[in-house]
Amino acid sequence: MKTILITGGTDGIGKGIASNYLKMGYRVMVVGSSIAKGKLFLNEAKQIGAEDRTLFLQADLSLVKENMRIIEEVKKRAEFLDMLVFSATSHTIKKEYTETREGFEFNFGLSYLSRFILSFGFKELLEKAEMPVIVNVCAPGMNGTVDLNDIQNKKNYNGSKVRYHGSRLNDLLGVAFTNRDTIKKIKYVLFNPWAVETTGMMESIKNPVNRFFAKVIFKIIGKPVDKAIIPIIELFDKPPKNNLTAYIQRKEVSLTKKTFDRENAIQLYKNTVKLLEGKMNE
Ligand SMILES: NC(=O)c1ccc[n+]([C@@H]2O[C@H](COP(=O)([O-])OP(=O)(O)OC[C@H]3O[C@@H](n4cnc5c(N)ncnc54)[C@H](OP(=O)(O)O)[C@@H]3O)[C@@H](O)[C@H]2O)c1
Repeated sequence: MKTILITGGTDGIGKGIASNYLKMGYRVMVVGSSIAKGKLFLNEAKQIGAEDRTLFLQADLSLVKENMRIIEEVKKRAEFLDMLVFSATSHTIKKEYTETREGFEFNFGLSYLSRFILSFGFKELLEKAEMPVIVNVCAPGMNGTVDLNDIQNKKNYNGSKVRYHGSRLNDLLGVAFTNRDTIKKIKYVLFNPWAVETTGMMESIKNPVNRFFAKVIFKIIGKPVDKAIIPIIELFDKPPKNNLTAYIQRKEVSLTKKTFDRENAIQLYKNTVKLLEGKMNE
């Protein structure tokens, strides 16, 4: 039975993917921070008779320690992983620089560091599958730069900008992962779903008038979750030939874009490893 692990699989795009694979008979593991959402997901699995192959793991993935725990929990339960999806995020914009109790900027921890730790942490388990694929749902194809001297935006914090910055970090994570991967079995896909009307996205817009207009705009330029996930399902069905690819929906993004710069990826990898020194086993 094929096994898929989805961070942020209890809501939004992640949940859409999780539900799809539950219906297809896969073993589905989802990670989220809210127990209530986890219970809802398990209940939905029960309704279709899939409870025996469904697992909800509660974790706050903004914390290094929690990511390490999830790796161990999954290793105890699965001998291989066919698919790994990163979809955990918080759309809520933090107006001020906010650190986790481990001392990392919150968005940096949740949207980048978690994906860094889990990408490398699950490498061996993925390599035991026949055609392993990682889909990192972020926003490749957009412009922007990474300040390698201030990767957590400590100096010039801007709540909206850190979210785009997080996506640039993930572009470089994809490059670093495939550059370091000598076995070359895993296909790493950076995927931009474009505008998707998810609860998380809408709830992050606090002003009701702005939310109303956002909903209208998302209806015009975006897609509902069930349509937005179709290109991701297609990528799992027919994985790309290249080890690293990036897409905006079905359109492939050229990896010659500056946002995938190899030197920056090497430097970011080194900076990240340094930041994590001593934190992984705390
Ligand atoms: N929606 C869009 O228009 C859009 C556009 C471009 C890119 N994306 C990307 O697509 C991905 C999914 O977005 P989405 O709109 O589907 O998000 P969403 O609806 O807000 O869902 C986010 C998921 O992440 C989980 N999560 C949040 N904080 C967490 C934490 N600290 N630890 C563990 N899990 C946590 C949530 O569950 P809990 O609340 O239980 O923790 C939920 O399952 C993100 O990477 C986002 O950047 C989305």
